[in-house]
Amino acid sequence: MKIMITGANGFTGMHLCLSLVQKGFEVHALGRGECRLPSLDNLLYHPIELTSVRSLLKIFEQVAPDVVIHTAAMSKPDICEMHRDECIKNNVEVTRYLLEASRHFPVHFIHLSTDFIFGENGPHREDDTASPLNFYGESKLMAEKLILQSELTASIVRPVFIYGSLLPLGRPSFIQWVQQKLLNGEKIKIVTDQQRTPTYVQDLCDAITTILTFKKTGIYHIAGKDILSPYDMAITVAKVLDLDTELIEPVTSDTFPEPVRRAKRSGLYIDKAIRELNYTPHRFEDAVQLSFKKDLA
Ligand SMILES: NC(=O)c1ccc[n+]([C@@H]2O[C@H](COP(=O)([O-])OP(=O)(O)OC[C@H]3O[C@@H](n4cnc5c(N)ncnc54)[C@H](OP(=O)(O)O)[C@@H]3O)[C@@H](O)[C@H]2O)c1
Repeated sequence: MKIMITGANGFTGMHLCLSLVQKGFEVHALGRGECRLPSLDNLLYHPIELTSVRSLLKIFEQVAPDVVIHTAAMSKPDICEMHRDECIKNNVEVTRYLLEASRHFPVHFIHLSTDFIFGENGPHREDDTASPLNFYGESKLMAEKLILQSELTASIVRPVFIYGSLLPLGRPSFIQWVQQKLLNGEKIKIVTDQQRTPTYVQDLCDAITTILTFKKTGIYHIAGKDILSPYDMAITVAKVLDLDTELIEPVTSDTFPEPVRRAKRSGLYIDKAIRELNYTPHRFEDAVQLSFKKDLA
């Protein structure tokens, strides 16, 4: 089975490429710029700017993928809010181009979306009404609509606040940011009034493996079991690493006048994934422990 992964230099994309190669799949990693992945058998890197339709079609001709996993996105809500045209181009138009290119092959298209398509009153179920609070969420919802309208075999995966181990050349997630600040002895202010169900990246990779292996279509929420605030998460990181919890100051969201609105009560229910994918996510504390063990390995 040939698997094409977009956003292969991103946090999730890198983990996904490595996880699927380790599981024996042939992975075609599509990334922007130089490859950040190690050189491995069955892992082929293709540098590409996804807004170039011509380059995309060429790669599809070359690879003839069986599965496309679309993780690439302009993923920072603040930047999306400020650069709306670019956001539409990267998050919506690129999805359209990929769906169009996929039509010529018997592709299973797996699209990474987000809990940001919802508003308040989380945790949310797969069929809850979407009502994004910011432009990033709107763009991801527009992309979801394209997937649902397409006639491809397709799945939409919605994770939340993804975290996990730091890969060589990879970018850090929230837990490494907390670790670094505390190691430096810096005080950090972290919000207590936002609820999330953070997704451990390895759980996400395993869920996607099940989805592609058993051709599971439709929408799946892939998150953690624990409902936590960023403050709870930071305290857990400090405790797991035996760092000073006193450096973490609890604050409310109005401490930071943010350029974008974020839900106070977000998060996703995962019953469907547990039932249909046999999804068994780690507890947050256990996943943090595993993430740092891997960082040290
Ligand atoms: N991170 C989270 O907490 C979270 C939560 C829920 C959902 N998601 C969704 O999950 C997916 C992965 O998120 P992530 O945090 O792993 O993202 P990320 O680290 O920001 O990676 C996204 C990658 O996409 C690439 N990309 C964007 N536009 C491109 C283009 N036009 N051509 C080629 N490459 C392009 C970026 O390239 P550059 O490296 O050159 O910028 C980057 O490597 C996204 O779809 C995101 O919306 C993320």
